[in-house]
Amino acid sequence: MIVFAGPDADFVRLHGETPAREETVLDGRGKTAVPGFVDAHTHLPWEGFREDEFNRRLKGETYAGIAASGGGIVATVAATRAATEETLAANVRKRLDRMLAHGTTFCEAKTGYGLDLANETKQLRALLAGAKGHPVGVAPTALPAHEVPPERRGSDALKRRYIEECRAEILPALAALGARFVDVFCEEGVFSLEESAAILETGKALGLVPRVHADELTPLGGASLAARMGAVSADHLLYATDTGIEDMAKAGVVATLLPGTSMFLRMNRYAPARKMVSAGVPVALGTDCNPGSSYTESLPAVAFLASVGMGLTVEETLTAMTLNAAASLGEGARRGTLEAGKAGDAVLLDGPSLEHLVYHWGVNLVTDVIAGGRHAVQRGLLRSSAA
Ligand code: NIG
Ligand code: FE
Repeated sequence: MIVFAGPDADFVRLHGETPAREETVLDGRGKTAVPGFVDAHTHLPWEGFREDEFNRRLKGETYAGIAASGGGIVATVAATRAATEETLAANVRKRLDRMLAHGTTFCEAKTGYGLDLANETKQLRALLAGAKGHPVGVAPTALPAHEVPPERRGSDALKRRYIEECRAEILPALAALGARFVDVFCEEGVFSLEESAAILETGKALGLVPRVHADELTPLGGASLAARMGAVSADHLLYATDTGIEDMAKAGVVATLLPGTSMFLRMNRYAPARKMVSAGVPVALGTDCNPGSSYTESLPAVAFLASVGMGLTVEETLTAMTLNAAASLGEGARRGTLEAGKAGDAVLLDGPSLEHLVYHWGVNLVTDVIAGGRHAVQRGLLRSSAA
């Protein structure tokens, strides 16, 4: 825990003595200390790369077109179903290591590449096993409604059957294993507003807090749905309407924006972040780390796109990847600022001012990370306890 943050003189005034210095001293002179980064949206437990799809998009194909031809999420579902829990856990651990090296100390992570009871629970167990003892904390999300599984396609009845399986079996099993949130891909051709609402209702009844993949590819109304459902976060939001933004502001829904995905999918469009800030919607950031639409573990890379692409100032960007991201995970009172009483999560950046976080782009400025009080990255190197 952080017991005090500020100049020595204030400590003396508060406690009547100078701070004890027998413990490790980390000299940050010439550097900038910031709160540990919080990644509010990832899909960590998966197997199988989709670099072929990446290259096909460079040759002119679209994300939706590739999905319609048998690629996309279902390609990752096939590889993830074929993988053992141990492989998935090792993948999670490797990704958490890389996140830590780039300053992340807490993250959200979703299931959603299993799409049946056995494989969704395998993904969540792998996530928990991979995260066990790791310096980066993980808040798990149940996302069985990420897509309609291949074996439940072709008729409305089959799709209804999958939604029923999600509600009656998969969500209860994921809640029992320790999921904290329920998410749904509310999108044209995936889950409708009504279907999404039913899935989120079931999650709520199980004690899970809703978050929504909303208005990512079309303006379906996911932002307003998130507000109606009392969701803590609506995510993506490239096509959020003015009404959707107003509804989120009124209901206090955090907008979790994923500019890495916009860039990676070459969408020529970002979520209207400035409008959201003006409307009083708290903006958070995430990597969306997944093999199809945003393969990165680096929040500083996302920070660059948030500022240069979406027009957030450096201060707004830092708040979005710390305090607001923590708030979107129900961790705002415990994380996201360097304040007494909060978790001992801090990052040292090799730059003389905060602006360097974005201004000095495309390189890793993180020299040291304290995660949960552990000095987990030292002079740019992960300590063996983490690796
Ligand atoms: O957040 N939008 C849906 N899900 C992911 C994409 C997953 C994939 O392509 O594998 C996303 O962008
Ligand atoms: Fe996502």
